[in-house]
Amino acid sequence: VFAHLVQAPEDPILGVTVAYNKDPSPIKLNLGVGAYRTEEGKPLVLNVVRKAEQQLINDRSRIKEYLPIVGLVEFNKLSAKLILGDDSPAIRENRVTTVECLSGTGSLRVGGEFLAKHYHQKTIYITQPTWGNHPKIFTLAGLTVKTYRYYDPSTRGLNFQGLLEDLGAAPPGSIVLLHACAHNPTGVDPTIQQWEQIRKLMRSKGLMPFFDSAYQGFASGSLDTDAKPIRMFVADGGECLVAQSYAKNMGLYGERVGALSIVCKSADVAGKVESQLKLVIRPMYSSPPIHGASIVAVILRDKNLFHEWTLELKAMADRIISMRKQLFEALRARGTPGDWTHIIKQIGMFTFTGLNPAQVSFMTKEYHIYMTSDGRISMAGLSSKTVPHLADAIHAVVTK
Ligand code: LMR
Repeated sequence: VFAHLVQAPEDPILGVTVAYNKDPSPIKLNLGVGAYRTEEGKPLVLNVVRKAEQQLINDRSRIKEYLPIVGLVEFNKLSAKLILGDDSPAIRENRVTTVECLSGTGSLRVGGEFLAKHYHQKTIYITQPTWGNHPKIFTLAGLTVKTYRYYDPSTRGLNFQGLLEDLGAAPPGSIVLLHACAHNPTGVDPTIQQWEQIRKLMRSKGLMPFFDSAYQGFASGSLDTDAKPIRMFVADGGECLVAQSYAKNMGLYGERVGALSIVCKSADVAGKVESQLKLVIRPMYSSPPIHGASIVAVILRDKNLFHEWTLELKAMADRIISMRKQLFEALRARGTPGDWTHIIKQIGMFTFTGLNPAQVSFMTKEYHIYMTSDGRISMAGLSSKTVPHLADAIHAVVTK
C-alpha cells in the first residue's frame, strides 16, 4: 500500500551529517549541523552535566514515574527565571506559565499549535532567511507562514529598514517569530537600540512576539546579555511566547530538553493558558521525558554548579569567537578576494559565508567540507587544525 511513495529528500541540515558519515575521506569536515565540538573535533559533555548526572544516579529515592503533562515543575520555574531574569515582574506576579517541551523544536510546535487553536490571528511572520525547520513546524501546527525581510546579502548584515517596513505592513495582531540572539542561519542580530525600535513598532501594532531562544549564553558568553531582547518585551507588561532550548548551551542535544513560556497579562489568564497547553501536549506525546530536565534543574538550583556552568558556557562561546578570528586571518593571509569581515562581525554558532550552492557543492566534492547549501558554516565544528583546510577551500572556490 505504500509502493506509490516517492523517496523523500534528506533534511537540509541533518542530511548534511548523513552525507558526511558516508564519506570515507580522512580529511572530511562537518560544518553542517550546529553542534559544538572541542578543539579535537569531538562532541563535548559538560563537566557540570556529568556532575549533575552523578548526583541523580546517587539519589536512590529517584523514581521513573510519569512526569505531569507540563513536565518537571521545578525545571519549569527555573527555566522561566533563567530566561526572564530573577527579578522578572511577570514571574513575581505569577503571569508566566511554563511547560517543559522537547527542546526548541518541541517548544515551538506546542506554542504554534496553541496559537493556531486559541489566538485570533493565524499568520506567523518569520525572518527571511531562517532556520529551515521553522516554516515546517508552524505550517504543521496550523498557522500560515509569511516572511519578513531580515538579511541584506549586499552588506551581509541586517536589513533593518526592510524589517521595519514588513512588520509595519503586517496585519494587526500577527505573530512574529524573533530569534532572541545569534540568528540562525545568518549570525546577524539587531543592536539593542534596534530591538527597542522593533519592540515599539510591534507593541503599537499589537503584533505577538514569539521568541526562539536556542543560544542563550552562546552569542555573547553572558546568559543575561543574550536574554535582554526578551526581557525588554516582558518589561513593557505585554504578552509574548518564548521557546527555550538547552541543546547548545548545556550541550544536552540528544536529551531533547527545552521549555515554552507564555507571558500573560494576569495570573488568572496564565492558569487558563496552562490548562489549554495541557490539552495540546497530552495527545501529542502525553508528557515529556524526565532525565534531561532533571539535569538542568540540578544545575540551575545549585549556586556552585550554576557558576561552573557559566564558565564552561563562556569557554565554548570564546572558542567559537576564536575560530572566527582564525578563519578571518587565514583568508587574509591567503589574499582571498572579497570582504570577509562578516566572519568576525556575525554572532553565535554560525557564519553565513555568502557562498552559493554551487560553491558549497564544489567545496564538498573537492575538499570534503560539508555545510548547508545556503553557505552556512557551523563555527563550532571548526578547530585550529582544520581552519587552514577550510580557508584553502574557500580561497580555491572564490578564485576559481
Ligand atoms: C542547526 O541549525 O544546525 C541546529 O539547530 C540543529 C538542527 O536541529 O537543525
